[in-house]
Amino acid sequence: MTDRPPGAASAGPPARLSLPKGNIRILLLEGVHKSAIERLKAAGYSNVEALSEALDEAALTERIAQAHVVGIRSRTQLTGSVLAAARRLFCIGCFCIGTNQVDLTTARAAGIPVFNAPYSNTRSVAEMVIGEIVMLLRGITRKSALAHAGRWDKTAKNAFELRGKVLGIVGYGHIGSQLSVLAEAMGMQVRYFDIEPKMALGNAMPCTSLGELLSAAQIVTLHVPETPATRGMIGPAEIRAMPEGSYLINASRGTVVDIDALAAALRDRHLAGAAIDVFPREPATNDDPFESPLQGLDNTILTPHVGGSTQEAQLNIGLEVAEKMIKYSDNGSTVGAVNFPEVSLPVKDRGVRFLHIHRNVPGVLLQMNDVFSSRGLNIAAQYLQTDGDIGYVVVDAEGAMDPPAILEALRHIAGTIRARHLY
Ligand code: NAI
Repeated sequence: MTDRPPGAASAGPPARLSLPKGNIRILLLEGVHKSAIERLKAAGYSNVEALSEALDEAALTERIAQAHVVGIRSRTQLTGSVLAAARRLFCIGCFCIGTNQVDLTTARAAGIPVFNAPYSNTRSVAEMVIGEIVMLLRGITRKSALAHAGRWDKTAKNAFELRGKVLGIVGYGHIGSQLSVLAEAMGMQVRYFDIEPKMALGNAMPCTSLGELLSAAQIVTLHVPETPATRGMIGPAEIRAMPEGSYLINASRGTVVDIDALAAALRDRHLAGAAIDVFPREPATNDDPFESPLQGLDNTILTPHVGGSTQEAQLNIGLEVAEKMIKYSDNGSTVGAVNFPEVSLPVKDRGVRFLHIHRNVPGVLLQMNDVFSSRGLNIAAQYLQTDGDIGYVVVDAEGAMDPPAILEALRHIAGTIRARHLY
């Protein structure tokens, strides 16, 4: 199926060059959603082992040596030394958003694309924000706490409908734009600010600056990535630029808001409320303590980074990552890979498809073409993508041929990292 990646352990029999689907061993860890297992099996990958837990480094090193494909969530650490033992591995799926738990550079150098699911949980975030807007505008957290404590606070004071209010969305990407649609359906007026030109959905209106949005909105919600420009984007000046009695929601990244400035504005009632899901310092596990200057403040919803944490998101993540892994294994497509040249390939309808991953040095393509032409084979289609130090070439070849012999010849081209052919 694959050749041996650089630095891989030399013990054991050499990995075969290509495998039928049923022989491709897939190891899924950390309770990956069953939607992924079902999708893989439906695509013909019957050899799937799914464990509910993460493995420690020793167990992982032993198990990964046998796997052709591995699927993990955020707790499994695929370090350089673990990957060195993964001599058969040709694809990694992260069934989550982040990929920090994988040594992406080592995986890339070994010709292993890594896939994740960056957007499968975005609807969940948008829905939570809608719920929070309702809760904030009605002062529900305070009324609920009082009711739990045996006090009856029946009043319409400081309780508002969201219909007709102006929602300011900062970052009109996957989450911001879905939120825009849901908020309009609830009768809100939507303004948004994004550094990229974005098509306005429905009746939403763009703002030309963050300042314009902050002064126009009664509720501001943040949906930007963490970048140098968004770090501390909402500080004391921005908070004071919001109208008195307005609300702030952050379910993006904890570093975007200056939490001390927010706490001060909530304490002196410049802001009427806030809902915060992400924090500059978040506990590493559920057993670690959580501290924030926002604790104990009235009309402030604090949630433990759960904006995207729903059963539906887990199901969709399972489908999204399984689909990307299947496309790569079946077809060679690397669309959505986080560490690899991205190639979108049509389904192979004739000939034999060869995949060749190599160091991006001059002359590889010439030598590859020579392997085919010297055997009198026709190249029906060829796809090439390079990305820094890595090149990825896919060739659909036609004619009478012995695919393993061709694969062997391709592997001998200087600079080859790995090669395989598709059944
Ligand atoms: P996205 O990449 O689809 O959209 C982000 C948008 O922000 C883009 O349109 C981009 O052009 C814009 N942007 C970037 N820098 C900006 C700036 N300086 N000013 C204004 N706009 C700027 O991302 P998506 O999926 O909508 O996620 C947004 C945020 O939500 C991310 O930070 C992500 O980490 C976070 N998130 C949080 C979750 C949670 O559980 N609370 C779950 C999922 C995502």
